[in-house]
Amino acid sequence: MKVIAFGATSSRESINKQLARYAASLIPDADIEVLDLNEFEMPIFSQDKEAELGQPVLAQNFFDKITTADALIISFAEHNGSYTAAYKNVFDWTSRIEQKVFQNTPMLMLSTSPGPGGAATVLASAVGSAPYFLGDVKASLSIPSFFDNFDSEQQILTNPELAKELLSAVSKLTNEFI
Ligand SMILES: Cc1cc2nc3c(=O)[nH]c(=O)nc-3n(C[C@H](O)[C@H](O)[C@H](O)COP(=O)(O)O)c2cc1C
Repeated sequence: MKVIAFGATSSRESINKQLARYAASLIPDADIEVLDLNEFEMPIFSQDKEAELGQPVLAQNFFDKITTADALIISFAEHNGSYTAAYKNVFDWTSRIEQKVFQNTPMLMLSTSPGPGGAATVLASAVGSAPYFLGDVKASLSIPSFFDNFDSEQQILTNPELAKELLSAVSKLTNEFI
Protein backbone atom coordinates (compact mmCIF):
# COMPACT_ATOMS: atom_id res chain seq x y z
CA MET A 1 0.00 0.00 0.00
CA LYS A 2 1.57 3.24 -1.19
CA VAL A 3 1.04 6.16 1.19
CA ILE A 4 1.90 9.73 0.26
CA ALA A 5 2.21 12.03 3.27
CA PHE A 6 3.08 15.70 3.51
CA GLY A 7 2.75 18.83 5.56
CA ALA A 8 0.84 21.51 3.64
CA THR A 9 3.60 24.04 4.26
CA SER A 10 7.13 24.83 3.17
CA SER A 11 8.77 25.14 6.63
CA ARG A 12 11.98 23.13 6.76
CA GLU A 13 11.31 21.91 10.32
CA SER A 14 7.57 21.66 9.71
CA ILE A 15 5.59 20.31 12.63
CA ASN A 16 2.86 19.27 10.21
CA LYS A 17 5.33 17.26 8.17
CA GLN A 18 6.43 15.54 11.38
CA LEU A 19 2.81 14.75 12.25
CA ALA A 20 1.97 13.49 8.75
CA ARG A 21 5.06 11.26 8.75
CA TYR A 22 4.23 9.92 12.20
CA ALA A 23 0.62 9.15 11.20
CA ALA A 24 1.88 7.29 8.10
CA SER A 25 4.27 5.27 10.28
CA LEU A 26 1.26 3.84 12.14
CA ILE A 27 0.13 2.00 8.99
CA PRO A 28 1.59 -1.51 8.99
CA ASP A 29 3.71 -2.46 5.98
CA ALA A 30 3.06 0.80 4.16
CA ASP A 31 5.36 2.05 1.43
CA ILE A 32 5.61 5.66 2.65
CA GLU A 33 6.74 8.62 0.59
CA VAL A 34 6.94 11.96 2.39
CA LEU A 35 6.73 14.94 0.05
CA ASP A 36 8.36 18.32 0.65
CA LEU A 37 6.40 21.17 -0.93
CA ASN A 38 9.67 23.03 -1.53
CA GLU A 39 10.21 20.57 -4.36
CA PHE A 40 7.09 21.98 -6.04
CA GLU A 41 7.84 25.67 -5.73
CA MET A 42 6.40 27.63 -8.64
CA PRO A 43 5.70 31.30 -9.41
CA ILE A 44 2.68 32.72 -7.59
CA PHE A 45 -0.32 31.55 -9.58
CA SER A 46 -2.26 33.97 -11.71
CA GLN A 47 -4.12 33.51 -14.97
CA ASP A 48 -1.61 35.86 -16.61
CA LYS A 49 1.29 33.68 -15.43
CA GLU A 50 -0.59 30.64 -16.67
CA ALA A 51 -1.03 32.21 -20.11
CA GLU A 52 2.69 32.99 -20.11
CA LEU A 53 4.04 29.70 -18.73
CA GLY A 54 1.42 27.08 -19.50
CA GLN A 55 1.20 24.23 -17.01
CA PRO A 56 4.47 23.91 -15.08
CA VAL A 57 6.01 20.46 -15.00
CA LEU A 58 6.14 20.72 -11.19
CA ALA A 59 2.34 20.94 -11.03
CA GLN A 60 2.12 17.85 -13.23
CA ASN A 61 4.67 16.12 -10.97
CA PHE A 62 2.54 16.90 -7.91
CA PHE A 63 -0.59 15.60 -9.63
CA ASP A 64 1.27 12.43 -10.70
CA LYS A 65 2.46 11.83 -7.12
CA ILE A 66 -1.16 11.77 -5.99
CA THR A 67 -2.00 9.39 -8.83
CA THR A 68 0.55 6.90 -7.46
CA ALA A 69 -0.93 6.94 -3.94
CA ASP A 70 -3.34 4.38 -2.53
CA ALA A 71 -3.82 6.71 0.45
CA LEU A 72 -2.96 10.31 1.22
CA ILE A 73 -2.12 11.87 4.58
CA ILE A 74 -2.01 15.66 4.60
CA SER A 75 -1.36 17.74 7.70
CA PHE A 76 -2.33 21.39 7.28
CA ALA A 77 -0.38 24.28 8.70
CA GLU A 78 -2.47 27.37 9.40
CA HIS A 79 -1.35 30.86 8.42
CA ASN A 80 -3.76 33.60 9.51
CA GLY A 81 -6.63 31.17 9.73
CA SER A 82 -6.09 29.72 6.27
CA TYR A 83 -3.79 27.67 4.02
CA THR A 84 -0.11 28.50 3.76
CA ALA A 85 0.77 30.35 0.58
CA ALA A 86 3.06 27.44 -0.37
CA TYR A 87 0.24 24.86 -0.31
CA LYS A 88 -2.34 27.13 -1.91
CA ASN A 89 0.02 27.89 -4.76
CA VAL A 90 0.79 24.24 -5.50
CA PHE A 91 -2.92 23.45 -5.23
CA ASP A 92 -4.01 26.28 -7.55
CA TRP A 93 -1.53 25.32 -10.27
CA THR A 94 -2.44 21.63 -9.96
CA SER A 95 -6.18 22.36 -10.08
CA ARG A 96 -5.66 23.88 -13.55
CA ILE A 97 -4.39 20.53 -14.83
CA GLU A 98 -7.38 18.74 -13.35
CA GLN A 99 -9.89 20.18 -10.88
CA LYS A 100 -10.22 16.75 -9.24
CA VAL A 101 -6.78 17.15 -7.68
CA PHE A 102 -7.33 14.41 -5.06
CA GLN A 103 -8.46 11.83 -7.65
CA ASN A 104 -10.77 10.00 -5.24
CA THR A 105 -7.80 8.83 -3.17
CA PRO A 106 -8.76 7.87 0.41
CA MET A 107 -7.37 10.57 2.68
CA LEU A 108 -6.63 11.39 6.26
CA MET A 109 -6.57 15.13 6.91
CA LEU A 110 -4.70 16.39 9.96
CA SER A 111 -3.53 19.72 11.31
CA THR A 112 -1.41 21.01 14.12
CA SER A 113 0.02 24.25 15.47
CA PRO A 114 1.98 25.29 18.56
CA GLY A 115 -1.16 26.94 19.96
CA PRO A 116 -4.29 25.45 21.52
CA GLY A 117 -6.32 25.94 18.31
CA GLY A 118 -4.33 23.21 16.55
CA ALA A 119 -4.95 24.83 13.13
CA ALA A 120 -8.53 23.55 13.33
CA THR A 121 -9.83 26.42 11.19
CA VAL A 122 -7.79 25.51 8.12
CA LEU A 123 -8.50 21.82 8.70
CA ALA A 124 -12.26 22.47 8.67
CA SER A 125 -11.85 24.43 5.46
CA ALA A 126 -9.84 21.62 3.82
CA VAL A 127 -12.31 18.93 4.89
CA GLY A 128 -15.29 21.03 3.79
CA SER A 129 -13.92 21.73 0.32
CA ALA A 130 -12.41 18.29 -0.35
CA PRO A 131 -15.47 16.90 -2.23
CA TYR A 132 -15.11 19.63 -4.88
CA PHE A 133 -11.70 18.19 -5.67
CA LEU A 134 -12.79 14.57 -5.47
CA GLY A 135 -11.31 14.14 -2.03
CA ASP A 136 -12.42 11.04 -0.16
CA VAL A 137 -11.76 12.12 3.43
CA LYS A 138 -12.00 9.06 5.68
CA ALA A 139 -11.09 10.90 8.90
CA SER A 140 -9.69 14.17 10.21
CA LEU A 141 -8.02 15.25 13.42
CA SER A 142 -6.49 18.44 14.78
CA ILE A 143 -3.64 18.14 17.29
CA PRO A 144 -3.45 21.22 19.55
CA SER A 145 -0.34 22.55 21.31
CA PHE A 146 2.07 20.44 19.24
CA PHE A 147 5.12 20.88 21.45
CA ASP A 148 3.22 19.74 24.58
CA ASN A 149 1.90 16.64 22.88
CA PHE A 150 4.57 15.49 20.42
CA ASP A 151 8.16 14.57 21.20
CA SER A 152 10.12 15.93 18.23
CA GLU A 153 13.31 14.09 19.26
CA GLN A 154 11.67 10.68 19.34
CA GLN A 155 9.12 11.65 16.69
CA ILE A 156 6.14 10.29 18.61
CA LEU A 157 2.84 11.62 19.84
CA THR A 158 3.16 11.44 23.61
CA ASN A 159 -0.35 12.46 24.73
CA PRO A 160 -2.15 9.11 25.22
CA GLU A 161 -5.65 10.46 24.48
CA LEU A 162 -4.53 12.10 21.26
CA ALA A 163 -2.49 9.01 20.33
CA LYS A 164 -5.67 6.95 20.67
CA GLU A 165 -7.63 9.40 18.54
CA LEU A 166 -4.93 9.40 15.86
CA LEU A 167 -4.80 5.61 15.79
CA SER A 168 -8.55 5.51 15.36
CA ALA A 169 -8.36 8.07 12.52
CA VAL A 170 -5.61 6.06 10.81
CA SER A 171 -7.73 2.89 11.12
CA LYS A 172 -10.60 4.62 9.34
CA LEU A 173 -8.18 5.27 6.48
CA THR A 174 -6.73 1.77 6.39
CA ASN A 175 -10.06 -0.09 6.85
CA GLU A 176 -10.56 0.74 3.20
CA PHE A 177 -7.80 -1.75 2.35
CA ILE A 178 -8.71 -4.66 4.63
C1 LIG B 1 2.31 34.22 8.95
C2 LIG B 1 1.92 33.23 10.03
C3 LIG B 1 0.59 33.14 10.41
C4 LIG B 1 0.21 32.21 11.38
N1 LIG B 1 -1.12 32.09 11.68
C5 LIG B 1 -1.51 31.10 12.51
C6 LIG B 1 -2.89 30.85 12.70
O1 LIG B 1 -3.76 31.49 12.15
N2 LIG B 1 -3.24 29.83 13.53
C7 LIG B 1 -2.30 29.04 14.15
O2 LIG B 1 -2.68 28.11 14.87
N3 LIG B 1 -0.99 29.25 13.97
C8 LIG B 1 -0.57 30.26 13.15
N4 LIG B 1 0.78 30.45 12.94
C9 LIG B 1 1.76 29.62 13.63
C10 LIG B 1 1.93 28.30 12.88
O3 LIG B 1 0.96 27.40 13.35
C11 LIG B 1 3.34 27.74 13.15
O4 LIG B 1 4.29 28.59 12.52
C12 LIG B 1 3.51 26.32 12.67
O5 LIG B 1 4.81 25.90 12.96
C13 LIG B 1 3.22 26.18 11.18
O6 LIG B 1 3.27 24.81 10.82
P1 LIG B 1 4.53 24.17 10.08
O7 LIG B 1 5.67 24.14 11.07
O8 LIG B 1 4.07 22.80 9.73
O9 LIG B 1 4.84 25.04 8.90
C14 LIG B 1 1.18 31.39 12.00
C15 LIG B 1 2.53 31.49 11.59
C16 LIG B 1 2.89 32.41 10.62
C17 LIG B 1 4.34 32.47 10.20
